[in-house]
Amino acid sequence: MKENEIKKIYKKKINQVIKNNKLYFEKNKPQISDADYDKLKSEIFELEKKYKYLKDKNSPSLSVGFAPSRNFKKKQHRVPMLSLSNAFDRDDLKNFEKKIYNFLNLKNNIDFEYSVEPKIDGISASLTYVNGKLSHGLSRGDGKEGEIITENLKTILDIPKEIKDPEFPKDIDIRGEVFIKNKDFQKIEDKFANPRNAASGSLRQKNPEEVKKIPLNFIAYTYGYYKNKKFNKQSEFIKALKKWGFKISEYNSVIKGVNNLIKNHEQFEKNRFKLDYDVDGLVYKLNDFNLQDRLGFVANAPRWATAHKFSAENAFSKIIDIGIQVGRTGALTPVAKIKPVNVGGVVVSNATLHNEDEIKRKDIRIGDTVKIERAGDVIPHVISVDFTKRNKQSKKYFFPDRCPSCGSKVLKEYNNQTKKYDAVKRCTSDGYICEKIAIEKIKHFVSKEALNIDGLGKKVVEQFWNLKLIRLPQNIFELDYDKIQKIDGWGKLSVSNLKYAINKSKKITLDKFIFSLGIRHIGKENAKLISYNIKSIENLTNISSNYDFDNFLGIDGIGETQINSLKKFFSNKINTEVIKKLSKFIIIINNNINLDGKLSNKTFMITGKLQGVSRAEAKSLIEKKSGKILSSISKKLNYLIVGDKPTAKKVTLAKNLKIQIINQKEFEKILN
Ligand code: IVH
Repeated sequence: MKENEIKKIYKKKINQVIKNNKLYFEKNKPQISDADYDKLKSEIFELEKKYKYLKDKNSPSLSVGFAPSRNFKKKQHRVPMLSLSNAFDRDDLKNFEKKIYNFLNLKNNIDFEYSVEPKIDGISASLTYVNGKLSHGLSRGDGKEGEIITENLKTILDIPKEIKDPEFPKDIDIRGEVFIKNKDFQKIEDKFANPRNAASGSLRQKNPEEVKKIPLNFIAYTYGYYKNKKFNKQSEFIKALKKWGFKISEYNSVIKGVNNLIKNHEQFEKNRFKLDYDVDGLVYKLNDFNLQDRLGFVANAPRWATAHKFSAENAFSKIIDIGIQVGRTGALTPVAKIKPVNVGGVVVSNATLHNEDEIKRKDIRIGDTVKIERAGDVIPHVISVDFTKRNKQSKKYFFPDRCPSCGSKVLKEYNNQTKKYDAVKRCTSDGYICEKIAIEKIKHFVSKEALNIDGLGKKVVEQFWNLKLIRLPQNIFELDYDKIQKIDGWGKLSVSNLKYAINKSKKITLDKFIFSLGIRHIGKENAKLISYNIKSIENLTNISSNYDFDNFLGIDGIGETQINSLKKFFSNKINTEVIKKLSKFIIIINNNINLDGKLSNKTFMITGKLQGVSRAEAKSLIEKKSGKILSSISKKLNYLIVGDKPTAKKVTLAKNLKIQIINQKEFEKILN
């Protein structure tokens, strides 16, 4: 890539950071998750590392957070307020320690001692005390410069205004977290999305009298500027904080070694909801100040500390409504619309209820207060109902028996294997007839794993649908680009990019094309198997309802469920029409699997264990040469490969059918 282009990409990312910082720090309205924000930051770090000429005064490598808002006068922090690196699991912690060992040139057999402190999810503040008197208090701001919010901080009862202890340092910044307790938040929850925003918003009120009305708390955990530091350990410093009159967390502890950190983390994570405030992890700080000083900082975080985050995050909120989403395969998924709530740093306003049975089992109703959980990137879901908060007038929720999109009947399918009805209700319409299903099918068609059309994401598909530009997959190749260029948000460049991506997507392997059709139960693997059999898009267009799908039976991986699904799909006229229309645009290219390989038309089955190669590898070796693996013995089978401890029944059956039985050596010969 050219320098210009790299600079352009870099600048775009910097602008995203600026925008999101503003939303987060100034407006208290984050729009992206912490994880996405961290990703954005690390992408910038990567670029800067790779291309030394990249520099920007707004880069997160140079600043923390965002410049303070204009409501307050600003002041420089005497010592910058930094952030913490994150760890999620043992590997991250080991890695964190490894860097310390390397930096300190130590052998990795020492168990470090850590000060372990809950990471309260509030906002940090720095209090400067001179001669025992609170002289001023600053918000974190961009880490270098904070807002002078002294008067507001003074309204917080936990913050001492004067400290008479003769041991208290003459000039020191005390730092800690301002937060609101959940029970207090409930009283003002109409005004703020979550406790953190409430604390931040409240602390930034212009009028201290207003701040007073909201009960804020302060827990101290570190220092900024500190002349003539007298302590050797963080745990000793924390003890002194308490003695001087600050509130400290009652859950602070000292722990040695990563194993013990992890045990403690597991324990704490289980109990965190008993706390009356949000905690999003545990902070580990090397307890020894001497080591801390030696290690110093990297970018804007200390080398000697990290935040061990909790995996699944919980929060309580109220169900405002229950909506029904219709998926690509017609599955109806109930989704609770909830009052926006911060679940581990992400504002959540929808949570899945999975299916009808789940709603029944948990007796979830509109208006209920529910516990929401979010783990990593998984969709937030409702865990349980707080029945003590249920309104007496509330009514049981009835799941619709018609598709909310097209009005067709919804049904639970009977599963022949489990001999049970599915938990999921499905729209019984024929695919593209149902608007919601059609949109989802098109999203799938263009998705990464299918046609992989860059710039045609889910939002764009919806936009094009609403503008009636697309109704069926083939419409993507018939788009009126002049029209698109006139749509708000689209310009010459983005349209030409889209055009390029769409043209590029026309060249595709047959298996990917089959996958992109979104036939139920035909995933990527099955699409591959079918593509070996069908061989060309022409053959695919010739498939109609009277096609003998039992041809596919016996292919390893294709069973009754898949055959039935294929039959249903190809008996639908719209589907076969779509394929015919698409075949006019699509150019099938060879995948790296050689369709005319040495073993084409040869079928294999393995019984027993092979030496030195797993069954999966053997399968892939056969497929690479265009051979096929069958799952059952029939006349169609050419070779039965017999390894250690084969199934006797299979061998006998193969003998009876006069199928060639070979051992591993013979198999290898055939392969080579
Ligand atoms: S120490 C130099 N200790 O976490 C170390 N921070 O991501 C940075 N936080 O801005 C601060 N509990 O708002 C420290 N026990 C604790 C903390 C803590 C919460 C917050 C704080 C800081 C952020 C860093």
